[in-house]
Amino acid sequence: MQKLRLGVLGSGAGSNMQSICDAIADGSLDAEIAIVMSDVKDAKILDRARAAGLPAMWLDCSPWKTKLEGPGEDECIRLLREYGCDTVVLAGFMRIVKPKLLQAFPWRVLNIHPALLPSFPGTAGWRQALDYGCKVAGVTVHFVDSGTDTGPIIIQRSVPVMEDDTPETLHARIQVQEHAAYPEALRLLAAGRLSVEGRRVRIAPVPE
Ligand code: GAR
Repeated sequence: MQKLRLGVLGSGAGSNMQSICDAIADGSLDAEIAIVMSDVKDAKILDRARAAGLPAMWLDCSPWKTKLEGPGEDECIRLLREYGCDTVVLAGFMRIVKPKLLQAFPWRVLNIHPALLPSFPGTAGWRQALDYGCKVAGVTVHFVDSGTDTGPIIIQRSVPVMEDDTPETLHARIQVQEHAAYPEALRLLAAGRLSVEGRRVRIAPVPE
């Protein structure tokens, strides 16, 4: 099995990128992060990447605010290819990715979403779950398709919603699960155990 070469895209703190980095460093994930890109110039994810000695670049996504399309998308694909990436990891990337990127990496673009999809797609899934009055919330890692948070689901983990939760405390509980779920999904991908059949992701058993 060939080691995964990951291109990570994020807009924020980068704690998921860090969890992937840590899993690689402790030998539990057979992958390497080839490049980290952010649409936010001063995002903490870029600082974390640089601290880990990884190539870290700001991606100019103008003129759009909510999607990756046009020159920014072309530059992103160019850099992913230049750095030899075979897998794209959306780790808190707050833009919609468009078909050009998806077609460049078919079924090799993954996203993590802070809710139990298909409930609460879009932004701040944890807040949506809390406002709705859910008793259970969670995280989903999925392959990205052309919809918004609609792609085939690889892994979900749930957490309880507590009586005294605020959006912040619930998000923190979800993030603990995110940091286990993303490396786990990538481990399955690295082991060649994932296949997409329609809406379903099949997880093959561990080979004997
Ligand atoms: C995570 O909670 C992730 O699930 C969420 O942004 C946060 C990024 O945290 N992603 C989305 O909401 C995507 N729609 P991080 O920058 O610390 O990894």
